[in-house]
Amino acid sequence: MNCYNGAKPTKCISLIDTMEKTLVTPQPRVRLKPRLKRLFDLIQTHAELYDTVWDCCCDHGYLGVKLLRKQVVPRVEFVDCVAHLMTDLRSRLGEFNTQHYGVTCADAGSIALDSSHRHLVVLAGIGGELAASIIGNIIGRYQAQRIDFLLCPNTAQYQLREFLIANNFKLLEESFIKEKRWNYEILHVSYQNPAAQTAISAIGQHWQAKNQDHHAYLAKMAKHYSDQAKNCSSGKAQKVAALYRAQAEQLE
Ligand SMILES: C[S@@+](CC[C@H](N)C(=O)[O-])C[C@H]1O[C@@H](n2cnc3c(N)ncnc32)[C@H](O)[C@@H]1O
Repeated sequence: MNCYNGAKPTKCISLIDTMEKTLVTPQPRVRLKPRLKRLFDLIQTHAELYDTVWDCCCDHGYLGVKLLRKQVVPRVEFVDCVAHLMTDLRSRLGEFNTQHYGVTCADAGSIALDSSHRHLVVLAGIGGELAASIIGNIIGRYQAQRIDFLLCPNTAQYQLREFLIANNFKLLEESFIKEKRWNYEILHVSYQNPAAQTAISAIGQHWQAKNQDHHAYLAKMAKHYSDQAKNCSSGKAQKVAALYRAQAEQLE
């Protein structure tokens, strides 16, 4: 088919039009749910601190796409280990200039950080132990570089905090968000940042006496660890349960 030899046949023009429209059709605008909306707001508030935001374990990439659309930071990097998700995401990013984003199908622990950029790595919607393992792999390769992380684990919040404390991370801010019946802790933390001085606490310091969701969450965590203690001889789960219980009592 030679469409550009002389006058363009109408059929070819309409085919080209359709192809161009398919390539640049803007993505349907997705309204972020409360958890991702809170992460988006936090990034927007601190946007001037970062050149690149890594939407790691991004799945459909809702958070990163919103950051791109609102031009919150100069560059967004999408990373997920599932190939078809990244192929699909790539095909949906045609409306954006490629200088503002990258899409990588890989283990998030293997990301390559340009030392001339200021990075924020987002890890949300995965377990705390997986998040700790990914962070461990990243900081193991960039031991002298400041890297900030925005973390919102589904589970194992205590284990993640333990890992961060052991690796000398410092707290920038922490908060809590409820989405439907699920509760999430959010941690904005910094690695190798001499200006950040606030220690990370084992169970968090952002609990408010007037917030019933905070009471319910602390009680749930205390119960979770005291149930675990029944099958654990080391006494560690019992100790963690006691920490959550004491914090719950302090709020009363
Ligand atoms: C539930 S989704 C979370 C999506 C989004 N971050 C959120 O908070 O809604 C978890 C994603 O993590 C990805 N994932 C799990 N382990 C990973 C790893 N080691 N490296 C990269 N992606 C990973 C999965 O493929 C999945 O798409």
